[in-house]
Amino acid sequence: MEVAVQNWTVADMPDQTGRTAVVTGASSGLGLAVTKALAARGARVIMAVRNPAKAERIRAQLPDANLVIRELDLSNLDSVHAFAADVMARGDQLDVLVNNAGIGNQPQSHSPQGHELHFATNHLGHFLLTGLLLDNLAKGNDPRVVTVASLMYRYGRLDFDNLPITRGYTTARAYAQSKLANVLFALELHRRLRAAKSPIRSLLTHPGVARTPMLGSAPSPLISRLSSTLAGMISRPVEQGALPIIFAATAPDAPAGVMLTPGGILRPHRLTAEPLRPHATNPTTAATLWTTSETLTNTPFPADRNPTT
Ligand SMILES: NC(=O)c1ccc[n+]([C@@H]2O[C@H](COP(=O)([O-])OP(=O)(O)OC[C@H]3O[C@@H](n4cnc5c(N)ncnc54)[C@H](OP(=O)(O)O)[C@@H]3O)[C@@H](O)[C@H]2O)c1
Repeated sequence: MEVAVQNWTVADMPDQTGRTAVVTGASSGLGLAVTKALAARGARVIMAVRNPAKAERIRAQLPDANLVIRELDLSNLDSVHAFAADVMARGDQLDVLVNNAGIGNQPQSHSPQGHELHFATNHLGHFLLTGLLLDNLAKGNDPRVVTVASLMYRYGRLDFDNLPITRGYTTARAYAQSKLANVLFALELHRRLRAAKSPIRSLLTHPGVARTPMLGSAPSPLISRLSSTLAGMISRPVEQGALPIIFAATAPDAPAGVMLTPGGILRPHRLTAEPLRPHATNPTTAATLWTTSETLTNTPFPADRNPTT
């Protein structure tokens, strides 16, 4: 059963002046809505995007917003390292990291390092990015990592012997696997940060079905039209879908360890905590995913110690 968290709108967002947020996938859909909302409240937003020219066009339309554009291709671990090195080199203070970028509906394909593309982009890239930015976040003011998952995690399974899905590939299976990884990662990060007495919090969200370009991205034009028509009937405006993400990024009392979601279509501001299925809260699976992700990114994650020490 869903648990009501609280009624909340962007008008309830505290002043964000002096805070800096990195938003991945800030050039479209939910990421753009989050970027606009944070910037409108005074935050400096680093738009972490794979297409800087697209972000430049957006920035030109928002002359009052404090937006910084940096290139980041999450599917490419080298690009994640380069992005994080650039943030560190500039000494950027970070208060919020919104792990939002995502892909769905991709035909079977692989990242430059040879990982299944949904898993590489939606999970591995964010896993590595979070680990690399953790020390920087630890110096922030009420720092948070916000992960954008999806209810599709329910249908996901992590078959560690077949993570590249060489057997039985479907786009839905690949997307669901990556979104299950998002949920396990956010909850495990929460546990590890608490154990290390870190000041950073890990919060987990899902946007409901929000009207974004992803809804029309099915591989066949016919399926794409059908699915976007169907989704159009049950979906919500992007600003409503972004609400739990903005809440998680800014509300002082946003709870960790649960999946924050928008309320129903009629009461979108009544944010709720979605009950999680047991396979997504299993600490053994989460620990296996963690060590597997460290191996696949070839980078140890620094959350096992207090990053401020
Ligand atoms: N819309 C929904 O109903 C829904 C439901 C559940 C969960 N979600 C989740 O919400 C998140 C945002 O999705 P959305 O609906 O806003 O879709 P969207 O409009 O397609 O936005 C996805 C964003 O991710 C970026 N991106 C894709 N691949 C990338 C890469 N390799 N490196 C860096 N950025 C990359 C895209 O960049 P470009 O701008 O260059 O394309 C875009 O900005 C995703 O994690 C998705 O799984 C969405």
